[in-house]
Amino acid sequence: MRIAILTALVVAGCGGSCGLNLERMIDQPRYTAYEACDVCPRGTIMMLPPTGTVARTAPLDPPELALGRTADGKDLTAVPLPVDAALLRRGRNRFDIYCAACHGRLGNGLSQVAEMMSRRPPDLHAEPYASRTPGHVYAVVTGGYGLMRSYANELSVRDRWAVVAYLDVLRLARGVQLSELPPELAEEARRWLK
Ligand code: HEC
Repeated sequence: MRIAILTALVVAGCGGSCGLNLERMIDQPRYTAYEACDVCPRGTIMMLPPTGTVARTAPLDPPELALGRTADGKDLTAVPLPVDAALLRRGRNRFDIYCAACHGRLGNGLSQVAEMMSRRPPDLHAEPYASRTPGHVYAVVTGGYGLMRSYANELSVRDRWAVVAYLDVLRLARGVQLSELPPELAEEARRWLK
């Protein structure tokens, strides 16, 4: 209806003779995919991507690092990056920002958000979660798991491994006796426990 009025207005406006061709976009000369083309190197209009072109969605890092799995599909059993203080600090920072809201800052599933969820985020230190391999946890963060969404957009590959490594630290830290700590750390822990 609106188009009819518009057309009527246009036609009336230029007395029906201003040569307006509404089909001109459809009729213009153009190639369709796979059509023959004399000037194209392969003779058809569709060309091959230049050598070395990488798909926008292709993992850029070595597959084990990017996917957390070996070529034959086995989860990595260790973090494939040097685990140093810088990586762990980064892991704590990212974990506190992106995971703690649900899993709690200790990873034990105690958080205000968790209390409100119909399916509670699990205590990552209880079985079977405590025995999950680093590769599995990395894949969970990368691809999501059940009700938990993927964090691949927020966390780079390195950041994801940093979080995985830090989760191991949280696990190790559980049940450590004060007497097992180096004296200066035991002293600091005592101060916090007061
Ligand atoms: C919005 C809440 C929420 C956030 C944020 C969140 N998770 Fe989860 N997570 C869940 C829930 C809920 C489950 C249980 C999913 C299910 O079983 O359907 C879960 C499950 C898991 C599991 C267990 C998967 C398994 O093997 O069964 C791991 C490991 C995990 N999350 C790690 C993380 C890490 C690491 C982060 C931060 C990058 C994170 N989660 C962020 C809610 C969350």
